[in-house]
Amino acid sequence: MNEEQRKQQAQINQEANFDRIKNTSSDDMISKYFQTNYEPQSPDIKKARKRRKEDVQFHYDFSIPEDVATVGKGKKFLIRTYGCQMNEHDTEVMAGILTEMGYESTSNTEDADIILLNTCAIRENAENKVFGEIGHLKPLKLEKPDLIIGVCGCMSQEESVVDRILKKHQHIDLIFGTHNIHRLPQLIKEALFGKEMIVEVWSKEGDVIENLPKVRKGKIKAWVNIMYGCDKFCTYCIVPMTRGKERSRRPEDIIQEVRHLVAQGYQEVTLLGQNVNAYGKDFEDIQYGLGDLMNDIHKIDIPRVRFTTSHPRDFDDRLIEVLAQGGNLLDHIHLPVQSGSTEILKKMNRKYSREDYLELVRKIRKAIPNATLTTDIIVGFPNETEEQFEETMTLMEEVGFEAAYTYIYSPREGTPAARKTDDVPEDVKKQRLYRLNELVNKQSAESMKKYDGQTVKVLVEGESKKDPDVLAGYTEKNKLVNFKGPKSSIGNIVEVEITEAKTWSLNGIMVENTVEVN
Ligand code: SAH
Ligand code: SF4
Ligand code: F3S
Repeated sequence: MNEEQRKQQAQINQEANFDRIKNTSSDDMISKYFQTNYEPQSPDIKKARKRRKEDVQFHYDFSIPEDVATVGKGKKFLIRTYGCQMNEHDTEVMAGILTEMGYESTSNTEDADIILLNTCAIRENAENKVFGEIGHLKPLKLEKPDLIIGVCGCMSQEESVVDRILKKHQHIDLIFGTHNIHRLPQLIKEALFGKEMIVEVWSKEGDVIENLPKVRKGKIKAWVNIMYGCDKFCTYCIVPMTRGKERSRRPEDIIQEVRHLVAQGYQEVTLLGQNVNAYGKDFEDIQYGLGDLMNDIHKIDIPRVRFTTSHPRDFDDRLIEVLAQGGNLLDHIHLPVQSGSTEILKKMNRKYSREDYLELVRKIRKAIPNATLTTDIIVGFPNETEEQFEETMTLMEEVGFEAAYTYIYSPREGTPAARKTDDVPEDVKKQRLYRLNELVNKQSAESMKKYDGQTVKVLVEGESKKDPDVLAGYTEKNKLVNFKGPKSSIGNIVEVEITEAKTWSLNGIMVENTVEVN
C-alpha cells in the first residue's frame, strides 16, 4: 500500500464510525461492549430513514496488507452461506479475499482453520438455523482452539444478535457486518493474534468498495452486484436496516465487470440488488437507470442476462421498452407482489395497489407477450382477514404466476409491523400457506405442461445431482431441465426436446448438433 492508499484507508476507517470490542472475560466483555460508543445496530427505523443526507463514497484501492498477505498459507477456510443471492455473492468476495491471503477452500468442517457463517435475518427460522449451527460448532472449537469461527452477514447488523453471541457463545472469535467485508484481512489478523472476541460492525450505511477479489462458485453463470441496500422500508422487512441505504455502482464499473466475465467464458450474468430497478436513482450527476444499464449490457456479447429482484413501484416504461428488445435480455421477470389485497399492501408500505400491480403486468405483457412472471408472497401479515387472503389467491390466478416463493409473515424486531398486535392464529396462517402452495404447485405444473413435446434452449450447467448420466441446465425462463446428452455440452447452450413435464422440472433429450458456440 502506498502513502496515498494508506491515507485513504485510514479515512475509510475513521469515517466508518465503528467500534471494536476486545475483551477477555465475559462479564468484562459485556460491560465494555455497552461502554463503547458502539451505535446500536438494532433496527431503528427513524434513524434509518434519515439516511439520504450522507454521501456515498467510492473506493477503488482495496489491497491485502503485506503483514497478512501469506497468513493463510497451508490453511483452509469454509464459508456457510444463508439467505439470498446477495449473501451468496458476498461469500464469493470473502472467498476471494481469503484465497488472496493464501487460504484454500474446504467443504469439510473438521479440516477448516477458519469457518465463517454468512447469515440471513429475513425470518426468524433463518436466524434459528444459524444459532443451531453456532451451537454445533462449539465442540469443534474446544477440540481445536486455534480454529477461528466468525459470524457475518445480515444477522451481525442486529444488536440483539451481537448481544446474544457475546453473552452465550463465547467460542465465536469474530463478528463483522455487511459493510466491512473488505476489512476481513485486518479482522482475521486481530482474531489470530489476539485472544479476545473481535466485534466490528459498522453503523455507517455503507460505501461502495470496488476491485474486491472474488472466487466465483461457478464458471458458467455469475452474479454481478449493481447496487446495494434498500430504501423501500416495507413495514415487515429487516433488509433496509441490515444492508443500509440504496447506493448504485457506477455504470462503467459494472460494464467492465460484465466484459471481464465474457472474456472468462461466462454465459449468463444476473444483475443483483435488493431493489434492483431503483438502480441509478441515487446518481446526482447522470440520468441513468436500470433500463439504460440493460440497454448497454444488451450490446455486450453475453448470451443471457437476468436481474433480480425488482420492485413493482420502480418498474418503469424505459425498462419495459429495453427488455422488449429481447435477445440476451431474458423474458423471465421476478416481480414480488407480497399480497393481492390493496389494504394489506398499504399496511406493508408497498406503495402500489392490487390494480396498480395488475396494470403493470398488462403493460409488461403488451410489450413482451411471452413474458413469464414469478413472485414472492407473504401470508398471515398481522390481522390479515380471510377475504384479504382470498384476494392473494385470486391475484395468483389472474396474473398466472408460474412460480412463487411463499412465506408466513415473521415479525422482525425493530420493524413497524412487529409492533402491531395480531389476531390471526398461527394454525390459520399455516393453513393459508398450505392452500396457497397448492395453487402455486398447480400453476407451476400447468406452465410446465406447455413445454411437453417442445424444443427449448438450455444452458447446460453440469451433471444432474441425482444421476451423473443425466445433464442439467436451465431454460431462458429459468426452468430446470434434466436430459440425456454428451458431457461436452456442459457450459454451452443446446436445444433439448422435452419428453416429460413435472411440477418443478422438465425431462428431455438433447437435439443433436445444436451446441451454440460462443
Ligand atoms: N428485495 C426483495 C426481496 C427481499 S426478501 C423485494 O422486495 O422483492 C425476499 C422475500 O422475503 C420478500 O419478497 C418477502 O416475500 C419475504 N420477506 C421479507 N421479510 C419477511 C418477513 N418479515 N416475514 C416473512 N417473509 C418476509
Ligand atoms: Fe425488504 Fe424488498 Fe421491501 Fe426492500 S423492497 S424493504 S428488501 S421487501
Ligand atoms: Fe437475508 Fe440479508 Fe439477503 S436478511 S435475504 S441475507 S439481504
